[in-house]
Amino acid sequence: MNLETTYLGLKLKNPLVPSASPMSRDLDTARRLEDAGAAALVMYSLFEEDVQAEEEQLARLMEFQDLGHGEADTYLPLPSDYKTGLDEYLEQLQALKSSLEIPVIASLNGATESGWVEHGKELEQAGADALELNVYFLPAAEDSAEVVEDRYLSILGQLKSQVQIPVTVKLSPYFTSLGYFVRQLETAGADGVVLFNRFYQPEMNLDTLDVQPQLHFSHPHEALLRMHWIARLYDKVDLSLAATGGVHSAQQALKMLLAGASVVHLCAVLLQHGPDVLEEMLQEMQQWMEDREYESVYQLMGSACQVNAIHPEAWDRMNYIKILRS
Ligand SMILES: Cc1cc2nc3c(=O)[nH]c(=O)nc-3n(C[C@H](O)[C@H](O)[C@H](O)COP(=O)(O)O)c2cc1C
Repeated sequence: MNLETTYLGLKLKNPLVPSASPMSRDLDTARRLEDAGAAALVMYSLFEEDVQAEEEQLARLMEFQDLGHGEADTYLPLPSDYKTGLDEYLEQLQALKSSLEIPVIASLNGATESGWVEHGKELEQAGADALELNVYFLPAAEDSAEVVEDRYLSILGQLKSQVQIPVTVKLSPYFTSLGYFVRQLETAGADGVVLFNRFYQPEMNLDTLDVQPQLHFSHPHEALLRMHWIARLYDKVDLSLAATGGVHSAQQALKMLLAGASVVHLCAVLLQHGPDVLEEMLQEMQQWMEDREYESVYQLMGSACQVNAIHPEAWDRMNYIKILRS
């Protein structure tokens, strides 16, 4: 049974990849994921805000030292001892690369065109096998769809001009014409897209009227939105499609592959049940494939996408009408 897949041009031993999460902050957990069969690992994100805040702090510190504040200087760390969030991220990336055999995908997360993605070069030099670019931008009322999309394309362009390694873009589902936009990303050099980001809307407290951040793990029904768009995009684009969001079982992972995903990202299921669940999922997937005499993941990939589906209209508006009339 050949479980191999190709993602962003990287040959992976199977399609299960732990997505960006705190699991990659800990080397032991990362090793356990690899032992359980993870084919690659996406690191937690390096956030634009963290890099910029630390750069500003460092600039202030250097300026303060230049001014020579006598006694106070002795309490300040020397700039050479000052470790930024970027330094720590690079150290963790290097540590993961030397502890693991599987590819490590670093993640850059931000929203402005201010040049922060230039740090992609350092991630490449530190050994990242690919980069995941997560642009989480909340448009204001005056931002047209074109302005929003241009922002993504411009950030992607800046990053691509810095690195040789593959770049994939983690997207939200909220685009006016998702397929067209994914094609634009492909033209701008994206090697893949990761569908979809989950957002964490704040909750409101009825007593204090305050809004508070909250984290809910995904629910399996969220996988349907991902499966739907992957099935619709599979034969329309040439870049790699990754599914993220709501995949909690081997069955759901198989459905994503049948829809056309090259890899399936896992997060909540691993955080809730531990790394070993990945091995169980792989075994179940293999069993399902053996029972149906599939010889490889490549053979099943995309075989239920919209153009190959028994009822292609089920991926379209007809599904909506049928559901409402039933
Ligand atoms: C605790 C936690 C931390 C996360 N950190 C990141 C992150 O740093 N960068 C990112 O792009 N996604 C991050 N994610 C999102 C996941 O990578 C994933 O896309 C999302 O949780 C949907 O997958 P799931 O349904 O398997 O959880 C995080 C998710 C969780 C639950």
